[in-house]
Amino acid sequence: MKELVTNVKNLRGEIDIPGDKSISHRAVMFSSIATGTTTVENFLEGEDCLSTIHCFRKLGVEIDQKGTEVTVHGKGLKGLVEPTEVLDVGNSGTTARLMMGLLAGQPFHSVVVGDESIAKRPMKRVTDPLRKMGANIHGRADANYTPISISGSDISNIEFHSPVASAQVKSALLLAALQGEGEMVIHEPAKSRDHTERMLQAFGCEIEETGNTVRLKGNQTLTGGIHITVPGDISSAAFFIVAALIVPNSKITLKKVGLNKTRTGIIDVVEQMGATVFYENKNVEGPEPYADLIVETSELHGIVIGGEIMPRLIDEIPIIALLATRAKGTTVIKDAEELKVKETNRIRTVVSELTKLGANITETDDGMVIVGNNTPLHGAEVNSYGDHRIGMMLAVAALIVEEGEVLLQNSEAISVSYPNFFDHLSNLIS
Ligand code: S3P
Repeated sequence: MKELVTNVKNLRGEIDIPGDKSISHRAVMFSSIATGTTTVENFLEGEDCLSTIHCFRKLGVEIDQKGTEVTVHGKGLKGLVEPTEVLDVGNSGTTARLMMGLLAGQPFHSVVVGDESIAKRPMKRVTDPLRKMGANIHGRADANYTPISISGSDISNIEFHSPVASAQVKSALLLAALQGEGEMVIHEPAKSRDHTERMLQAFGCEIEETGNTVRLKGNQTLTGGIHITVPGDISSAAFFIVAALIVPNSKITLKKVGLNKTRTGIIDVVEQMGATVFYENKNVEGPEPYADLIVETSELHGIVIGGEIMPRLIDEIPIIALLATRAKGTTVIKDAEELKVKETNRIRTVVSELTKLGANITETDDGMVIVGNNTPLHGAEVNSYGDHRIGMMLAVAALIVEEGEVLLQNSEAISVSYPNFFDHLSNLIS
């Protein structure tokens, strides 16, 4: 149990936002299956990305990691070896799903396992299309839940209409397709994050993106020996963007935040709610753009959030819900069913924990409704339920609690994506 800092008068200063989680996973995965030695700078040292490193070491890849600097001695797509132990992904859905795609085409047997939360997350969205491509996959509930075992087989590429806009599904299928015969075509209902596509290009692969469709020809080689700089994670920056907007008299700078358009829905939302985000030092290094963001306390009003924007801010909904408690009027979040299958059912955990703090928030079938009007928040005992983003949202909520103490159970979950979150937060409190 951790006592959170409450009743903060202002936030000032700057922080270096840690590396992007999605890009860090992919940097290790793609350099492992590329030729040559690839170096990665500003790697996220969170538990999820360390799980990816552990899994690839078990597949025979030599990886040196010193803090945020990682060197991967690539084995090429045909150089991985059969693991003698299960591949433990910990809490990481991205590691689990992307590895299933890669392993589907490898000429050996492997087993993917994870923690309690992973064992409840649906894998059929990946294993079903992989089976259509010829994969030999077994697991609980017809390969919906881990442990999942994979006996590599020949892969044939297909045209697939994904029922969900999910970068994990798209990336898993692309990793299988790299090893398959023919052309893979994936259509999504809305465009999900495109870090895989960008990184494949950086490794010399040909991939075509048109609207919500990607096309990739099989039997391609990834040419490594490159240097990857991982930008700061906008999903981590989001907690501080919201903190600066809602704590009075605040002004902060968030350094080198990744601004890939498939991830910046949070910025569109805060601007629609009436805030302004200022940019400095815009730059592009490799395939991903980034900039420093300057955010200050702002007056906000409620809006409706739904439709095509959802994949661009899906991980930010918990913190946007908190932001909405500070806005004038009502905010409606809809089309957010995907939140039910994240690390927790995030519709339920956001509503239950913010209600404990006094927020006026109601669960709906596909999201939530928040009546803002600066409803005062009060102290309570709250729980992350092992979900890093729920834990960080509650730590930001505590900053504006004027009366009572806020105690957070399972605060350690935050290290999944932001191990130095509390240090960064205290640096901003004068
Ligand atoms: C991720 C994709 C998203 C996101 C997750 C990371 C990725 O999941 O929620 O935190 O790195 O591809 P879905 O693709 O399932 O929406």
